[in-house]
Amino acid sequence: MASTEKGRIPGNRVPVWDLPIRLFHWLLVADLAGLWWTATHDDLALHFKLGYAALALLLFRLFWGVAGSDQARFARFLKGPAVVLRHLRHMAMPGPLPPERGHNALGGWAVVALLAVLLAQVATGLFAVDDDGMEEGPLAHRVSGFLSKLARRLHHANFSLIQVLVAVHIGAVLLYLLVKRENLVRPMVTGWKRLTSLPGEAPAPRGRAHGWVPLRRAALAAALAMALVAGLVAFA
Ligand code: HEM
Ligand code: HEM
Repeated sequence: MASTEKGRIPGNRVPVWDLPIRLFHWLLVADLAGLWWTATHDDLALHFKLGYAALALLLFRLFWGVAGSDQARFARFLKGPAVVLRHLRHMAMPGPLPPERGHNALGGWAVVALLAVLLAQVATGLFAVDDDGMEEGPLAHRVSGFLSKLARRLHHANFSLIQVLVAVHIGAVLLYLLVKRENLVRPMVTGWKRLTSLPGEAPAPRGRAHGWVPLRRAALAAALAMALVAGLVAFA
């Protein structure tokens, strides 16, 4: 087998991200853009609707993290500190990274951090009241005025945190591309990745059949997430 530049050996095309994960990711990106736009252009009615959509997307991702395809499962990509440190050492070394199929050890925790701050954003929004007291999240009437004002302040502060984490996220994707020559975006669009192996390592696994769990399970998880959000809005 011929060696490519940077010492890599061309690998097999393997499935990485199933359709539900890709849809979740790009819908979330679009939804966040809409949430930012509606919040800064005083369209709180639409902001609320997009906020409910964000909650449904996040609930769906939590379900998919336990019942979804292999690469999507939290148990599959959340690793202990030793593995994270090893990944950091690889990052600091010149040359390509060892082949990895899904999230790497550091990326896995970054995913959890992103999901956590987004859930916190939705949670604070549900209890927040706006500055003139005219509009309030559906659960604001269940808490005192002090707490709904506090929720509003946290909603603002946490959004700054989201901006930082998203900037780090996009910066990391660029870093992998420019420094490690690893294009993470293509698999997040197509679902597939060419998994290269390093000289001396076992060849990357062959994976013609995608092995993703059936889409009807994703439809069920999405329906459950939407039903929970609808229930919350109806019975708030
Ligand atoms: C509002 C902005 C964004 C948010 C909140 C966000 C959030 C996330 C989350 C939660 C994941 C984990 C996917 C999962 O397992 O569920 C992820 C992965 C990913 N995102 Fe984003 N993302 C954003 C923007 C972007 C943009 C603009 C790009 C492209 C430049 C991008 C590229 C990726 C890639 C390539 C992965 C997979 C990383 C890997 O291979 O481990 N994201 N993102
Ligand atoms: C991930 C989801 C969300 C994001 C990213 C987000 C983002 C924002 C931002 C940036 C603002 C502040 C705009 C400004 O500078 O004045 C804001 C305000 C607000 N959001 Fe959200 N939001 C989300 C979810 C929600 C949800 C689910 C609700 C309630 C159903 C909600 C209710 C509110 C309210 C009531 C305000 C007005 C607070 C004020 O007037 O200062 N948000 N949101």
